[in-house]
Amino acid sequence: MAAFDLVVIGAGPAGYVGAIRAAQLGMNVALIEREALGGTCLNIGCIPSKALLDATHEYYLAKNKFSSRGIKVGDVSIDLPTLMSFKQKVVRQLTGGVGSLVKKNKITHIKGNARLLSASTVEVTAEGGKQTVEAKRILIATGSKPVELPAAKVDGKHIVDSTGALSFDSIPKKLLVIGAGAIGLELGSVWSRLGSEVTYVEFLQNIAGAADAEIAALLQKSLEKQGMSFRLGAKVTATSIKGGKVTVTYETGGKSESVEVDRVLVSVGRKPAIEGLGLEQIGVKLTARGAIEVREHYQTAVDGVYAVGDCIGGAMLAHKASDEAIACVERMAGVGGHVNYDAIPNIIYTAPELASVGLSEEQAKQKGHEVKVGKFPFTANGRAKSMDEVEGTVKIVADGRTDRVLGVTILHARASELIAEAAIAMEYSASSEDIARSVHAHPTLSEALKEAALAVDGRAIHF
Ligand code: NAI
Repeated sequence: MAAFDLVVIGAGPAGYVGAIRAAQLGMNVALIEREALGGTCLNIGCIPSKALLDATHEYYLAKNKFSSRGIKVGDVSIDLPTLMSFKQKVVRQLTGGVGSLVKKNKITHIKGNARLLSASTVEVTAEGGKQTVEAKRILIATGSKPVELPAAKVDGKHIVDSTGALSFDSIPKKLLVIGAGAIGLELGSVWSRLGSEVTYVEFLQNIAGAADAEIAALLQKSLEKQGMSFRLGAKVTATSIKGGKVTVTYETGGKSESVEVDRVLVSVGRKPAIEGLGLEQIGVKLTARGAIEVREHYQTAVDGVYAVGDCIGGAMLAHKASDEAIACVERMAGVGGHVNYDAIPNIIYTAPELASVGLSEEQAKQKGHEVKVGKFPFTANGRAKSMDEVEGTVKIVADGRTDRVLGVTILHARASELIAEAAIAMEYSASSEDIARSVHAHPTLSEALKEAALAVDGRAIHF
C-alpha cells in the first residue's frame, strides 16, 4: 500500500475532525481507532452525559415547576431503562454520523490498536492480525482517561468512574462523588435529580476548579438547594466494600470521618492516554505531567509526528481538541490555522449551567490587571422571568485601563448557549463598550450580557 499523506491515531473530537479537515485539504488520510468512532466525547463523555442531563432536567421541571405554570401532568415518574436506551440511541446516531462523514471524505478507517514503529510506520493490531501502515505524517490524537485514586479503586460496580456513572442499572439511594469538578458536578446532578442523595468530597475549598470563585459559590448554593451536599477541603483516605455498600473514609480539618453509601463516583481528573503507542522508542518526548510534549504547530520531538487534544495536556475539552487538530493539519498544508487559548469557552452543564471564557476575576488580578467588573442578575431580565429561569448572573471582567474584556462568566440555565457571544467578543478583542453598544434583541437572555457590559461602567439600565 502506498504511504498515506497522513495517518491519524484516535477518532475522537481531535482525530476524526483533523482527519476530515486533512481530507478537505487534499490529503490521503487513514484514521486508526481501536474502539467506536467518536472517542470518549461521543461514546462515554460529553454526549451521553448531556442526554442524561437534559432528560433529567425535564423530569425535574415536570415534577417541580410545571404545576405553577398551570400544566397538569399527574404523577411524574422515571423509567430508567427507557432513559438509558434514549441515551444510547443519541450516541448511536452521532457515532453513525461520524462514520458517514469519514466515508464521505474518503478517509480510510482502520480498526485496531496502533503502535508507532518509526516516524513513518504504524503497526495496527486487530483481531484478524497485524498490519503496517506507511505514513508521510502521523497525528496522535489518543485522548485521555480517568485519573485513578489508590484509596478508591474502581471496581466498575460499587466504585465507578464516569463511564460507570453513565449506566447505573438502578438509582443509588446514596451516591458519594469524589471530586467536585466538571464530571462530578454533572453526573452527580443527574443522579440527584433521579432521587439519589448525593454527597461530594472535594479536596479544594471550592467547587468547579478554577471557575470564578464568586460565581462558583453561587452554583454551590444552588446545588445545595437541590439537595446535594459538599464536604470541601476533604480528602478520601480509604474505602471498603461490604454487603453491597461502600464505606468511605475521608479527612477534613484534621479529623477523620466515615460515611456509608451505595455507590461511589471517582471523578478526580483525567490524564493523557498514551500507553502502548511506542512513543519513547521512537524519540517522542513527554512532559513532566505525562503528556506528549509539542513544539510549534503541534510537532512532537520527532519530525513528521504531531499530537493534539487531551494527550498533549492543557484544558481537556472536546472543542479545544478539535480546534487544535484543525490548526495542526492546516499548518501541515501550509494554511495559517491557529488556536486562541485565551478564548476557549468552558461549560459545566449543571442547573444552572456555569459557563466561562477567558479569565476569572482572581486570575485577571493575579496576572497584574487592574480590573473593572460588571454584573447583571437574571432576576432583572424579562425573558428569564417569563421562562421562570431567573437563577444566575453574568459577570464581565474588563481591563481597568483599556476596557478590553478579559473574561466572562455566566451562571444560568442556558449559559452554555449564551457564552458563545462572549467567546466571539473576546476573539475579536472586544471592549466591554463594544458589547454594550451592540444591539441585543428584546426580550432575550443575551440582554443580560449587554447589561453586564453596561454595568462595567456603572450604567446598567435595569438594575
Ligand atoms: P476536574 O479536574 O474538573 O475536577 C476534579 C476535581 O477533583 C478537582 O476539583 C480536584 O480538586 C478534585 N480532587 C482531586 N483529587 C482529589 C481527592 N483525592 N479527593 C477529593 N477531591 C479530589 O476533573 P473531572 O471532573 O474528573 O473532569 C476531567 C476532565 O474532563 C476535566 O479536564 C474536565 O474539564 C473535562 N470535562 C469537561 C466537561 C465539560 O466541558 N462539560 C464535562 C466533563 C469533563
